[in-house]
Amino acid sequence: MPSTSRSPARAADPVSLPVKRRLEAPVRGLLRLVLLLAGLSLLVRPGAARQAAIASAHPLATAAGFETLAAGGNLFDAAVTVSAVLAVVQPESSGLGGGGFWLLRRADGRVSMIDGRERAPLAASADMYLDAAGRPIPRRSLDGPLAAGIPGEPAALALIARRYGRLPLARSLAPAIRLARDGFVVDEAYRRYAGFRRRAIAASPGAAAQFLDHGEVPAAGWRLRQPDLARTLERLAAEGRDGFYAGKTARLLVAGVRAAGGIWTGRDLAEYRAVERAPIRVDYAGLRVFSAAPPSSGGVALAEMLHMLDRFDLDALTAVQRKHLLIEVMRRAYRDRARFLGDPDQVAIPLKRLLDPAYANSLIRDLSFGAAGRSRPLPPDPSGKGLDTTHFSMADSEGNAVAATLSINYGFGSGFVPPGTGVLLNDEMDDFSMRPGVPNVYGLVGGRANAIAPGRRMLSSMSPTLVETPKGLGVLGTPGGSRIITMVLLGILDIAAGEGPDHWVRRRRFHHQYLPDEVQYEPGAFSAQELRGLRLLGHRLRPLDDTYGDMQAVWRAKGGHLEAASDPRGSGAAQVKTIRVSTSPSDGP
Ligand code: GLY
Repeated sequence: MPSTSRSPARAADPVSLPVKRRLEAPVRGLLRLVLLLAGLSLLVRPGAARQAAIASAHPLATAAGFETLAAGGNLFDAAVTVSAVLAVVQPESSGLGGGGFWLLRRADGRVSMIDGRERAPLAASADMYLDAAGRPIPRRSLDGPLAAGIPGEPAALALIARRYGRLPLARSLAPAIRLARDGFVVDEAYRRYAGFRRRAIAASPGAAAQFLDHGEVPAAGWRLRQPDLARTLERLAAEGRDGFYAGKTARLLVAGVRAAGGIWTGRDLAEYRAVERAPIRVDYAGLRVFSAAPPSSGGVALAEMLHMLDRFDLDALTAVQRKHLLIEVMRRAYRDRARFLGDPDQVAIPLKRLLDPAYANSLIRDLSFGAAGRSRPLPPDPSGKGLDTTHFSMADSEGNAVAATLSINYGFGSGFVPPGTGVLLNDEMDDFSMRPGVPNVYGLVGGRANAIAPGRRMLSSMSPTLVETPKGLGVLGTPGGSRIITMVLLGILDIAAGEGPDHWVRRRRFHHQYLPDEVQYEPGAFSAQELRGLRLLGHRLRPLDDTYGDMQAVWRAKGGHLEAASDPRGSGAAQVKTIRVSTSPSDGP
């Protein structure tokens, strides 16, 4: 604030100077107050309202996101909160012992990806899950600490809070700490997955004590309390990434893993870093799509599929031709996924070629509308319903947005909790290719680009996605293993057709992943006429008994109007709320 007494001209005024001096202290105080209030009315506008939309796979996570916004956090603080609460209330799907990808869009349109994907321990080797004859040892990459990659979620949350957030990490993590300590009543998804993975959980005393009730799947109404996890979260809140990757938590994690036959060392944790990367960007039919870059395969596969589709006039096709075309572009993109994709920091990915729209011409050269294509035959896909990962989408009226897909891989991950940590470890090592041609738990095959190597990030299908259109911004994503990418593709096509988020999350889905050579589809995904037509073309059609996916979606119209939708297949919550904040409504660093 300018001080009159510093002005030489006024200081020379012998009459006014003493008076001013006498008044100076209280006036300056008053002036400060007036300016402060004026500033607040311009910048802070107490009571100023903004809107935000959050769709997540659990009502407690959605509610906690709004709690952080109401406490003055920006959308990125709320993303930290929602991630951490999902880690507590949906242990079957994601957690501090896992990883994920966060797509962050600032109101000025800049989009960035935070890669918190797990990586292989430094003592990992290409054949660690094979027997002497080179055959995969059943369940070794799925159950127990040997199946676990080095977690990335804690580092990612600390990085998002530091680079993008406004609140201290301790404030954004407070709801998760509270829910871990005080507990919450488990839902049906928890009970279903606890039953599905009971054997693996029961084999780990730390996990059994935390997630089972005297060794059994808890009854409905059971309250899950996780005091060890609360303390681990508190150390993360107090010390940032070092609160997890160094000190007491790191010591407990490494000791617990090694005592149970795992291969982690302190160096694995100390060297882990979340990485900020440029997302994949693809332009299609007037839309601008941003999705996850490698080590996720999502963005590249989506880009290839959209570029192929761009070669055709979809409106001129019959319903059968349109479905046939979609199946054929899925087949080709998943073939490239298996051939080329892996950890960008360790393998050479021909990204420029794969993302070149002209490359699509060579992919569709053998595409015929007279017959289904062919993939080399393989064993059937054993993948389940696909709730073993989680997703949330959020946006605010200013144009900030977050799409995040988080995972510990299979339901309840490896089923292993290092004693004293409360941290359920992932079994993401199964996302590596054990051996060329050997399918993982999702039936996905891969080659050398996704072979196990020390410190390498395993290829993922997680595809948090943002879609900019002339009319607004779509935010979407879903769990579902290998089917994630095709679910997101169908969602993008719905956006292109002008449909709203309620339609993206409800629509019936179908999927082809190159191998096995079959079209998996939900009940009702094809009409009787489409089924006949596709069969005549030679497609092998595999009806699924159940639905799959748990898409969480948000739409922000150009003027700021928000909509949110949560997949009816899951038990998530989507809400649009007006936030009354006591701090600046403008977000971003
Ligand atoms: N664990 C599932 C994925 O990352 O694709």
